[in-house]
Amino acid sequence: MGTPVIAGLGKLFKTHGLSKKTVLLFDENTRRLFGEELLRKLNDEGFQWTELLIPAREASKSFSVAFRLYGKMIEADVDRSWNLLAVGGGVVGDLGGFIAASYFRGIPVIQLPTTLLAMTDSSIGGKVAINHPLGKNLIGFFHSPELVLIDPSYLTTLPHREIYAGMAEVVKYGFIADEPFFSYLDLHFADITGLKEPYITEAVKKSAFIKDDVVKKDFRETAGLRATLNFGHTFAHGLEKLAEYRHLRHGEAVTIGMVCALFLSHNLGYLDRESLDRGLSLLRKFKFPKGLLKRRFLDIDSGLLLESMFSDKKKLDKKLRFVLLKKLGEAFLLEENIDDCHVLKAISDGQALFSSKSSR
Ligand code: GLY
Repeated sequence: MGTPVIAGLGKLFKTHGLSKKTVLLFDENTRRLFGEELLRKLNDEGFQWTELLIPAREASKSFSVAFRLYGKMIEADVDRSWNLLAVGGGVVGDLGGFIAASYFRGIPVIQLPTTLLAMTDSSIGGKVAINHPLGKNLIGFFHSPELVLIDPSYLTTLPHREIYAGMAEVVKYGFIADEPFFSYLDLHFADITGLKEPYITEAVKKSAFIKDDVVKKDFRETAGLRATLNFGHTFAHGLEKLAEYRHLRHGEAVTIGMVCALFLSHNLGYLDRESLDRGLSLLRKFKFPKGLLKRRFLDIDSGLLLESMFSDKKKLDKKLRFVLLKKLGEAFLLEENIDDCHVLKAISDGQALFSSKSSR
């Protein structure tokens, strides 16, 4: 595969004031797929490096794994003059960012995302975290990457299921921030999920710029703007919890969650019927593994899902926060509390929509 993004890495690092002393963090997959070529390039360009490897699973985002990796870095004499390059998807990026933010009170992190979700969402914006047994991403920092190196050619190694999961976040940007982008995604959905150029690069680029723009305006998520990136996520977190964070990809849960959030926006009188229909029509293009929707959404009692949404340990005030749409391309964070009956209705509307599709 061609890897333009890692050609000339030395020069790029220099331009950004980064040293050529780098800790590389891989998971088993990214080490196997991209490791040799990357290490060869670093050798050619005179880098001093040490590498760390983690299992490719959510459980790697733990304090015990982080602690083990700190030890390896201390043994390799890594100090504050080094940086860390995280090569992988959301798990590697989050854990790598967490380690970089905390090691020696903080070293620079560079993200090299290799999944669609990481390229368009998790690698950008500096939210880095590990999980706690009581909840996901509860222990972490805001630690901005010095660089995010994005190369869509890495996506060719991914299974289709991962592409659709990442596409959920891409589509999210159209919904919350950019109606022309929404229309582009609708028109070229098959081209993008088929990784055709120039559509895939355009979709990744546009998503990354929208995310970066939102983050710049509301880095610490205090103004209600960054929170709009969580469109569909309140429903999604409830579904992921019910699926024990194992049986449903985050992006799959977000796709379902956006269907429910569209219905909620319409049912509460914010979104007109035509926009609802256009939104649903795009979301119906997503494919799920056979039987998954039935097991993880259609067969679930709406009351049970609501309970699971409430049990997210991050909701200390026990209020659900919803991001709704006023129109396609414009989202807002609903400040007031809504009656549970509206949430239950949005869930059952979503279930009815997917039930009407025979292939599920
Ligand atoms: N993924 C949501 C955020 O970065 O704020």
